[in-house]
Amino acid sequence: MAGKIPQDFIDDLIARADIIEVIGRRVQLKKAGREFKACCPFHDEKTPSFTVSPGKGFYHCFGCGAHGTAIGFLMEFDHMSFVDAIESLANTMGVEVPRDESDRPARRYDELFALTESVAKHWQGQLRAHKVGADYLAGRGIDDDTARRFGIGFAADGWSEILDKFGQTPEAAERLLATGLIIRKDNGKLYDRFRERIMFPIRDQRGRCIGFGGRVIGDGEPKYLNSPETVLFHKGRELYGLFEARQALRHIDRLVVVEGYMDVVALARHGIDFATATLGTATTDEHLNRLFRLTDNVVFCFDGDRAGKAAAWRALENALPQIREGRQIRFVFLPDEHDPDSYVNEFGATAFVNAVDNGVALSDFLISELANQVDMQTVDGKARLAELARPLVNSIPAGVYRELLMGSLAEAVGLSAAKLDKMLQQTAQPGKESSPQGKFARADNTGTSMKSGQPSVVRRAITLLLNHPAAADKLDVEKLAGLSRPGIDVLQELIETVQAEPNISAAGLLERWRHDERGRHLGKLAAVEVPDEDEFDPALELSACLDQLALAGRRERIDFLIEKQKLNPLTDDEKLELRQML
Ligand code: GTP
Ligand code: MN
Repeated sequence: MAGKIPQDFIDDLIARADIIEVIGRRVQLKKAGREFKACCPFHDEKTPSFTVSPGKGFYHCFGCGAHGTAIGFLMEFDHMSFVDAIESLANTMGVEVPRDESDRPARRYDELFALTESVAKHWQGQLRAHKVGADYLAGRGIDDDTARRFGIGFAADGWSEILDKFGQTPEAAERLLATGLIIRKDNGKLYDRFRERIMFPIRDQRGRCIGFGGRVIGDGEPKYLNSPETVLFHKGRELYGLFEARQALRHIDRLVVVEGYMDVVALARHGIDFATATLGTATTDEHLNRLFRLTDNVVFCFDGDRAGKAAAWRALENALPQIREGRQIRFVFLPDEHDPDSYVNEFGATAFVNAVDNGVALSDFLISELANQVDMQTVDGKARLAELARPLVNSIPAGVYRELLMGSLAEAVGLSAAKLDKMLQQTAQPGKESSPQGKFARADNTGTSMKSGQPSVVRRAITLLLNHPAAADKLDVEKLAGLSRPGIDVLQELIETVQAEPNISAAGLLERWRHDERGRHLGKLAAVEVPDEDEFDPALELSACLDQLALAGRRERIDFLIEKQKLNPLTDDEKLELRQML
């Protein structure tokens, strides 16, 4: 098996690739100003909304939201894997893909799979040998048959159970490290990752064990410990229980997405075999692709708490581009305090299936959530609703579904569909703006926060940086230290990446975030139009954004200290800090 492709090679390949040539060989492109246009190859349309920007090195479809780099395009259009796309691109450019051979021994997949399987078997055996484990599972209502079906096991207490049993040679220990089953301390000492936990093997589509989730017995921290990202295991892609569902069902007519391992297992215990869980991450595009390959009927059933509601909304946002005729997406909200596990145990399987069958349609969830945020009695409120709906509606592929949703929205707002359509377009096309800031502040519809509707400074900074990476070269990233704002960590990492790799292109930055959930919006931000460098100075603008953030952070700190002063005396350090800031 070949070694890993070095990151700097990928950066360089993307920077030098001619995206116009790559896409132009497969889709007929027409020049339009600085960019190229075509009818989108990923959804059905009559007027071209698929745009390729040679300067930025990527494509974006304003109709269906598809976007990516040359590599992403090859993956989508030619259905290639990431590595194949790189090979193919390198091939057309006449360069050979180098491989980093240093970690080769760890990459013999078959050996790694054999290892994870043996460890899973070992832990299964331990479950019978250790009363704590068996009692815990029984206490949660899981019978032996279900435990066996899911291969549930028990990792006994101890620092070297697995190391001693499976890691006797240096090669074997390397394999344990590569699968994340053991950890190497700074002083070189090795020890088991999973101790005294109920172990859930996570299987890929072919049933191979790629990693584990381990639940603490009782109340320890963390409640669940997962395998780290390894060559076998990528959290954002995998769905727990999907393999087991496919084994149990001859025909999958729907899939329910839940939050936890125990939800999947408890449902299966009650004969509900069509549940699957994300692994503590949000529902990603890759999850949805995988689900829709198996069924047209997907139901999200999250916990009844606020976090569950937020997770449902993110799932909705991610699902919009995947909407097609014939696909059904619904949401089930369990009563507060319940998750699917507790619900099915308290009310039984029939009640759960009923709840699933009565799930809220995606369109109803979308409309009611938006309506909650505005005052529907006023004209302003209705206009706000149209504004909030615009980016969401626009990420649905054009077609019957989008028309229907527009119809329902219009009805909810009490307008004719034509009038609403006009409103959506009005907010979509702001009047002439002279300041560059205003120009993309408006266009950045993906970045508007659900509450304020205003694109944040963080998003503006990220947009600028993606459009003009070199502008971040001399920024003082220290200014952001200690600030907490959504996206600030991504901004920080972007700046640091550019400073470490001054020649990296926008497309190169996007590729770096390919497997990172936090990078979900980067592609959309990168597609926002920002004026040319000769029209304004992006470095200056970016630096101004950082100052603005630092200032806002300082103000918040001042407010905090003043408030605190009213309740408790400040420490000497705090007094000094406050005086200096004032
Ligand atoms: P039980 O308490 O065993 O019923 O689990 P739950 O599924 O109800 O737990 P919860 O809703 O808190 O978490 C849902 C999922 O999030 C879990 O199945 C895990 O995948 C993940 N998760 C929960 N807690 C942790 C944690 O401490 N660390 C990590 N990495 N993941 C967690
Ligand atoms: Mn639970």
